Amino acid sequence: DRSHNGRQPKANMEELDAALRQMADSLMPTPEERAAQMEAFEWVKSLLQARYPGAGVHLFGSVANGLSVRHNNDIDVCLELEGVDDQAGKAEVAGVVGELMEAAGMAEVLPLPKARVPVVKFVVPRTGTKVDVTVNNLLACINTKLVADYCAIDARLAALVALVKHWAKQRAVNDPYRGTLSSYCYVLMCIHLLQTRPTPVLPALQQLQPTFRRAVGQWTCEFCDNIEALRGFGAVNCESLAQLVWAFFEYWAWRHNYSHDVVSVRLGACLHKDDKDWTRRIGNERHLASGGPAACPPACRCLPSDVCIEDPFELSHDLGRTVDRQTRAVLHKEFTRAATLLRDADDPLDLLFAPY
Ligand code: GTP
Ligand code: MG
Repeated sequence: DRSHNGRQPKANMEELDAALRQMADSLMPTPEERAAQMEAFEWVKSLLQARYPGAGVHLFGSVANGLSVRHNNDIDVCLELEGVDDQAGKAEVAGVVGELMEAAGMAEVLPLPKARVPVVKFVVPRTGTKVDVTVNNLLACINTKLVADYCAIDARLAALVALVKHWAKQRAVNDPYRGTLSSYCYVLMCIHLLQTRPTPVLPALQQLQPTFRRAVGQWTCEFCDNIEALRGFGAVNCESLAQLVWAFFEYWAWRHNYSHDVVSVRLGACLHKDDKDWTRRIGNERHLASGGPAACPPACRCLPSDVCIEDPFELSHDLGRTVDRQTRAVLHKEFTRAATLLRDADDPLDLLFAPY
């Protein structure tokens, strides 16, 4: 439905902007929360380094890139070990770390050695921090740096992400285990929006002369991390936070071409699904054989998902893969609800962020 082009929110944009800024500020973690997360990290790090002397232990994800929001007590930790490269090796270490954490008195220890990225989950009892430990998850550490660099170029990214993450939590569409999208996926969607404004707020760092290079397995991670030279890049774009929030929901409600487009932060543009060969997503062979996608049960993933988001480095990885036929309808309904509220309501914020 492209007939919404050119529509603007009904609310007074200056008032909406002031309210959204205040909200984004109030979503920032408190110093106490940050301190608790760091305390949890230091303890986990000392346990890991006692077991694996000389190993690197890194914080990644939102706590490391400045995009964590209040009341989210999760940290992502990467254990860097030499000589552990394949899936089986990482899964084995995940098991050992699970036992280590159990013995150290961590709560709710849950090793997931068969996950795409083998992981051990547990809770640090003293601080209540939920920890994910992964092994040699270098791609995640590098994309954390990429996101941090984008954040340093324009402050509107962090504010937009805080609001979108808060909205997604409130509306129950931030759970990849239940068919919706991960926080990391929403972060990429926000970067994409800012790269594709008529006057861009963010560049595509991977399209500039690379100043950072790492090879990780088959993937080459290259981008410009000369942020000093790019500070102020977005200053020619004068859009307010309210305008960008509106643009985000309007894009995902009415402008994004779900059947054709793959969002690519790497390119700063959309790719066509045919270019990625994502039109025939690895699905359930049996369903495909028995009459094609039409014969699939609703939760099957034979069909290309409507939401395709390319990981910036691991190019075969689609962050929208968690979405199935039921949840893609739910997601689209939520984007449309948000955009419609912003378009039509005099005072949309209470409803926009109302719990589902
Ligand atoms: P919150 O924990 O909700 O504050 O957000 P986050 O930015 O830490 O995201 P999340 O915990 O979902 O992911 C942690 C990190 O894992 C991301 O920052 C990425 O670096 C990395 N990552 C890479 N691939 C994936 C993926 O497919 N799903 C998720 N969730 N994370 C990925
Ligand atoms: Mg996280």
